[in-house]
Amino acid sequence: MEGALTARDRVGIQDFVLLDETTETAFLSNLKKRFCKDLIYTYIGTLLVSVNPYKQLDIYNKKQMAIYMGVNFFELPPHIYALADNAYHTMLTEFNNHFILISGESGAGKTEASKKILQYYAVSCPSTTLLNTVRDKMLMSNPVLEAFGNAKTLKNDNSSRFGKYMDIQFDSQGDAVGGHILNYLLEKSRVVHQNHGERNFHIFYQLVEGGEDNLLQQMGLERGYQHYSYLTQGQCATVSSINDKNDWKSVKNALQVIDIDEITSNHLFGIIAIVLHLGNIHFDSDNKGHALLNNNAELHWVSNLLGVDAYTLQEGLTFKKIDAHKDQVLSPFTLDHAVYVRDALAKAMYGQTFTWLVNKINDSMENKDSSRKTVIGLLDIYGFEVFYVNSFEQFCINYCNEKLQQLFIQLTLQAEQEEYEAENIEWEPVQFFNNKIICDLVEERHTGIISILDEECLRPGDATDLTFLERLQEKMGSHPHFVTHKLADKMTRKTLERGDFRLLHYAGEVTYCVVGFLDKNNDLLYRNIKDLMCQSKNAIVKECFSTMDPDNRRRPETVATQFKSSLLKLTEILMAKEAWYIRCLKSNESKQPGQFDEALIRHQVKYLGLMEHLRVRRTGFAYRRKYEDFLKRYKPLCPATWPHWRGDPADGVELLAQHLGYLPFEYKMGRTKIFIRHPRTLYATEDAYEKCKHELATKLQAKYKGYRTKGEFKKQKEAATKIETCWRGAQARKEREKREWAVKVIRKFIKGYMTRGQAKVTDNSEYLAFVKQSYLNRLKDNLPKTVLDKTTWLSPPAVLTEASEILRKLHYRLMVRKYVKGITPQKKAQLQLKVLTSSIFKGKKDSYPQSVAQPFMDTRISENDINARVIQMIRHEHIKYSVPIIKYDRNGFKPRPRQLILTQTAAYVIEKAKIKQRVLYTALKGISVSNLTDGMIIFHVTCEDSKQKGDVVIQCDHLFELLTKLMVIANKQNAIQVVQGSIKFEIPAGRERAVDFSTGQEPMVYKGNNGHLMVVATRARAR
Ligand SMILES: Nc1ncnc2c1ncn2[C@@H]1O[C@H](COP(=O)(O)OP(=O)(O)OP(=O)(O)O)[C@@H](O)[C@H]1O
Ligand SMILES: [Mg+2]
Repeated sequence: MEGALTARDRVGIQDFVLLDETTETAFLSNLKKRFCKDLIYTYIGTLLVSVNPYKQLDIYNKKQMAIYMGVNFFELPPHIYALADNAYHTMLTEFNNHFILISGESGAGKTEASKKILQYYAVSCPSTTLLNTVRDKMLMSNPVLEAFGNAKTLKNDNSSRFGKYMDIQFDSQGDAVGGHILNYLLEKSRVVHQNHGERNFHIFYQLVEGGEDNLLQQMGLERGYQHYSYLTQGQCATVSSINDKNDWKSVKNALQVIDIDEITSNHLFGIIAIVLHLGNIHFDSDNKGHALLNNNAELHWVSNLLGVDAYTLQEGLTFKKIDAHKDQVLSPFTLDHAVYVRDALAKAMYGQTFTWLVNKINDSMENKDSSRKTVIGLLDIYGFEVFYVNSFEQFCINYCNEKLQQLFIQLTLQAEQEEYEAENIEWEPVQFFNNKIICDLVEERHTGIISILDEECLRPGDATDLTFLERLQEKMGSHPHFVTHKLADKMTRKTLERGDFRLLHYAGEVTYCVVGFLDKNNDLLYRNIKDLMCQSKNAIVKECFSTMDPDNRRRPETVATQFKSSLLKLTEILMAKEAWYIRCLKSNESKQPGQFDEALIRHQVKYLGLMEHLRVRRTGFAYRRKYEDFLKRYKPLCPATWPHWRGDPADGVELLAQHLGYLPFEYKMGRTKIFIRHPRTLYATEDAYEKCKHELATKLQAKYKGYRTKGEFKKQKEAATKIETCWRGAQARKEREKREWAVKVIRKFIKGYMTRGQAKVTDNSEYLAFVKQSYLNRLKDNLPKTVLDKTTWLSPPAVLTEASEILRKLHYRLMVRKYVKGITPQKKAQLQLKVLTSSIFKGKKDSYPQSVAQPFMDTRISENDINARVIQMIRHEHIKYSVPIIKYDRNGFKPRPRQLILTQTAAYVIEKAKIKQRVLYTALKGISVSNLTDGMIIFHVTCEDSKQKGDVVIQCDHLFELLTKLMVIANKQNAIQVVQGSIKFEIPAGRERAVDFSTGQEPMVYKGNNGHLMVVATRARAR
């Protein structure tokens, strides 16, 4: 869609500023080229030129609106939406008031343009349900006001016959939140009279064509305009472009939207009906020519609808009430006068109702919120018009256009050029026609046409329209823009009637017929009629007439003067706002689509001053801004000026411009302002600013977030420190308590230690308990493991000496118990033997201790190793024990290995199969051993006969085992003697021998020089 649109717009030049040459021909040719392709909009800078296409173009839909929303003005093809959008966004960013001046002659498309703008705002502005109603009211005010204020003229089928200035109020968010309408001079004369080819206001036709049967009936109306003389004068009631029936429905619907309820709208339509009935009142005349009204049905309907007395009404329409010396005299009207009074009433009623309607609409659109708002004003006023016969209304309308042209000149051409001069910008002045001279001609105090007209109206005596003309001629005689029949040259005179005057308006010549000027300017209504209206039951009529000229005594201002002052006020309103311009051009007089009437358009281009505007634009600058303001807005775009520029604003702006890459011809530095030649330069800057704004916002956001986070962090840190401090404090307190406790404990411990020897008192009780406990704990791990271990017992502290001893005993007893429990009967028997051994040798023989650990065996020689003969010989005595021994000869002490066998009754010394000696236990009188570590045993045997061999000397490695067994078997416990030094023994024949024991390094046994057997035993190892 956009692509197609752009392509379409490549026709001609979109902005006249870019035209190669600034001739009228080039201008028109471009306009025509574009018009032929249905491109009706073209720019001159930011001014929009619009040519009426007289056909519906597909460029006013929501899709199109969306394309233009928020887009830079020059980025898209020219469109009225672009201008509306630009004004809106400028208003939002600069937060100031704007107005859009829509100008052009009647039928050029002003009203259509204003509607398009309103529709655009209705769609593009943000909306809420509440705002939607405001929006609907604004939109819907149009059909109502058009129905009551527009009419078909020769120039335009929907010609605005009133001036309208509408403020759309926006809040700071850009929402349309309210509206206000100012209305200007309604062409009331149309109510009672229409020129040929024209119609009355649309509402009349809408009511009689579209009104519901019962409504018409209620109001005494008949369907069809042809029944009403106020509707038929122009003889063109039906118009192909107008559908009154449909429009009736729209108006009724719109009335609801703008809060006019059914009763009120019935009153409203009642007034339309009253006017129609009034128009149908025809007067008869008596023979004196006085107007008569007899039993007139229309009159009754009027009185009926007004709710006033019919007779009083009739009187008011046919007689004038004159106050004469406190009496009231009724003076009858002539027929003409009666018609005049009737028409005056109809006009007044309609005119007042129109004002009431505007007020009503304003009430419903009013924004009651007092917050600051900005506005965009839309000015849509009746356009310049020239008819065959032009009257007071055209005079006012054209004067109004003259004023607007003056405003345009002031704001653009004049002000612009004056500004360049004031700012010292090099400038080649552009000549233009200043229509101030015409404005002055019309409005100047005392000498202007309006003043003269007012004078004539107020002058006592026979002032008539013609006397007014005469006065004009007198006063304006030489004015270059004023001509009358009398003043004109021959040629011109032919084109003028005697009752005409001609003004050379900025837009062309207009000849005005003075007939009716005085009456229309006076706009008088007799008091008795006014008073009667104040009594009306129709609320609207009553309200309107009651509020009309509240000051009864003063003569009301004339219509022209009122109009003049309202235009002055309008100019003030507009001057306080930023202006946007739409110049509407009429493409042809016959309202035909596709027709480009070059002469007509050339004429409009000329009088609208478009060429001059173009020239000023081309050589001038599209944009200017005070240095301070420019800097304030765009300073973020240059590092040197951001965030603060402390120097002269002009220097800052210069720096900024250079930084932005403005070329020298693109801008100029004035005295107080910067001037930028092309809008595109500004738009590029604005784009950069938009981008930068986001970046700045991000930066600010980041900074702020950083600041916040820092703050947060600081807070957290402070909190952490606080917690830490508290925690440390708590810890320290705990630590201190612990130390205090420790000190106490240690002190107690030390005291306890120091008094450990004393009886248990409070000071040492804990220490002692500790000592006890620790001793017992240690003791538990260090108990002796065997019964034999007598050394391991831990030495107890003093307080536990006794307990320790008891424990020790207990422990040993326990071990013994355990040991004993674990002993087998064999072992027991052996131990009993060992006990026996111990009782004999313990502490007596040195080798004893070593022997304790060596267990006793049952025997040391198995029966297999004993000779069978020996066994045979001693079998009857039972062998109890046998052991290998060394037997020493009695004489030579030679050692002989032998076996010693113990039987039940005797001990045998065996050499292999021989029993070498048999020692009966009964004959064994003693046994001697040394106290040393040797194994020598001497059996002392009783020698009763010579066969006996005598004592036996043997050496046995198992001495204790042998002797213990022997003692048990032979029951000879007391026979053993442990001897020190030497043992004597007997050999046969009563001889004695001896064995001497001594200790030495090596164990030895030898025969000593003294004939004794010498036994050297090693020293016992100390245990
Ligand atoms: N943009 C447009 N597209 C289509 N038709 C248009 C456009 N503008 C105007 N017209 C046609 O021209 C007619 C006259 O336009 P409009 O009523 O806006 O004129 P005007 O300038 O307000 O005249 P006046 O001064 O008499 O009120 C419209 O009724 C419509 O038919
Ligand atoms: Mg209009």
